[in-house]
Amino acid sequence: MRIHVPNDTAARSVGADEVARALASVPVVRDGHAHVVRNGSRGAYWLEPLLELETPEGRVGFANVSAAEVPALFADGLPDRRHPKCIGLVEALPWLAEQVRLTFARIGRIDPLSLDDYRTAGGLLGLERAIGMDSAGIVREITASGLRGRGGAAFPAGIKWETVRNARAPQKYVVCNADEGDSGTFADRLLMEADPFQLIEGMTIAALAVGATQGYVYLRSEYPYAAQIFGEALARARSAGMLGASVCGSSHAFDITLRIGGGAYICGEETALLESLEGKRGVVRAKPPLPALQGLFGQPTVINNVLTFAAATDVLARGAQHYASHGLDRSTGTMPFQLGGNIQRGGLVELPFGITLRDLVERFGGGSYSGRALRAIQVGGPLGAYLPASQWDTPLTYEHFAAIGAMLGHGGIVAFDDTVDMAAQAEFAMAFCAHESCGKCTPCRIGSTRGVEVIQRLRRREQVRDQWNLLEELCETMELGSLCALGGLTPMPVRSVMKHFTADLLAPAGGAS
Ligand code: NAI
Ligand code: SF4
Repeated sequence: MRIHVPNDTAARSVGADEVARALASVPVVRDGHAHVVRNGSRGAYWLEPLLELETPEGRVGFANVSAAEVPALFADGLPDRRHPKCIGLVEALPWLAEQVRLTFARIGRIDPLSLDDYRTAGGLLGLERAIGMDSAGIVREITASGLRGRGGAAFPAGIKWETVRNARAPQKYVVCNADEGDSGTFADRLLMEADPFQLIEGMTIAALAVGATQGYVYLRSEYPYAAQIFGEALARARSAGMLGASVCGSSHAFDITLRIGGGAYICGEETALLESLEGKRGVVRAKPPLPALQGLFGQPTVINNVLTFAAATDVLARGAQHYASHGLDRSTGTMPFQLGGNIQRGGLVELPFGITLRDLVERFGGGSYSGRALRAIQVGGPLGAYLPASQWDTPLTYEHFAAIGAMLGHGGIVAFDDTVDMAAQAEFAMAFCAHESCGKCTPCRIGSTRGVEVIQRLRRREQVRDQWNLLEELCETMELGSLCALGGLTPMPVRSVMKHFTADLLAPAGGAS
């Protein structure tokens, strides 16, 4: 009998370690009739710590369990399903059962560090198929799937991989961007903690596709548990022959090095990340040249987000057509949406593109945590637009969001109830940019600081018409004149407040409507 307790940053932050420790002294575990397995989280963070008991019918869950409750829960052997904390069969929970998990299919179900578990649950099928193909065939499959970069820019992965494949160079690299800096996002971390071999497999498929022999994962420094788990997974993959001079017994050589980030948001921008990987300060490089042609140490480099590499395993395992059969129009496949902020049921919801924001936030998110009406939803991280209720019926696709002046970004969704002061949010967007700017270009370096001042003047109702016009001009200058997405996209949340929450911006400081 196995008792599962998540070994995941979010679950640990609400007491999962203490629950696991308390379980060690309950009679069924002490007597050896049951043992505790530290699985990854299922991403149902609103239920953590979620303890799961293996039964012949499936895993039965006990939600929001505290360490103090464990002795009573296990006093008479295994806990009774009539206990108020019991949520029944975990996989029958509508919140999970109604999701379409292609990339996150294994999370929470397997021991993240067991390669046997990984293989039994469908892992390695994609890599094994890729080993039997030539590099052009692998890229063709990725292109046919329609997979686009999940870091936010949504660039077709197949085109990027083909550019690197065709480049002539003595050395090529595969770099994974795991510098997940957007507010409200956690999907990269969750995957690396709950299913780390999937990232290793996806990067290896990319290496085979382009002819790279060395990979790097650039992981943000704020994720120490992900570093621990992923580092151990790398060691196990090496000793099992999944990485090294002969990948899975093939003629391909590939290895991956884990690097911890420098702690700056801008290091999530691909060229700043490459600078940081090379040991320099994380400052944005001008493009061209594209990293695909001159990336790490000047060599052709595939650089993708964690989720893009992870999705590639499913594309290869089940075929491009299976992946492309999900989604809407040019937004094919699934997106791991991350629900956060003022929301009842926060967590990871993977669904095909095309669901509306309202459906996502109401059906899966359960509405606001406070019980008050929701007023604004920010989609796509700190550089994403704040959307009012009139736009919540927009289908979540790259194209539909671009059409309303918004973006999906990395899939972070942060909800705000009717107590939010949207003027403060607009000011925060500029302040965030000022704080995180790498300083290389003037529109961003100086514009963001001026932007904070202009919004503050507006909030004090000083020279309203002039300041409003100035803010519009400043947004245009930052959007058109900035070197990278940080300066270029900061106007997006600011403009969305100007357009949809005008009254807040023109009200005195602290005066939310
Ligand atoms: P981009 O549109 O310039 O490039 C997208 C990707 O495609 C890059 O990897 C680029 O090197 C590659 N690419 C472009 N043309 C290519 C070609 N012809 N051949 C091969 N590769 C090519 O976007 P950028 O500046 O890399 O990223 C901006 C996006 O990042 C924003 O739209 C935003 O959504 C997202 N973002 C994500 C953040 C996060 O924390 N996940 C934070 C900030 C922004
Ligand atoms: Fe640096 Fe900002 Fe310019 Fe990007 S937009 S290069 S972060 S100064």
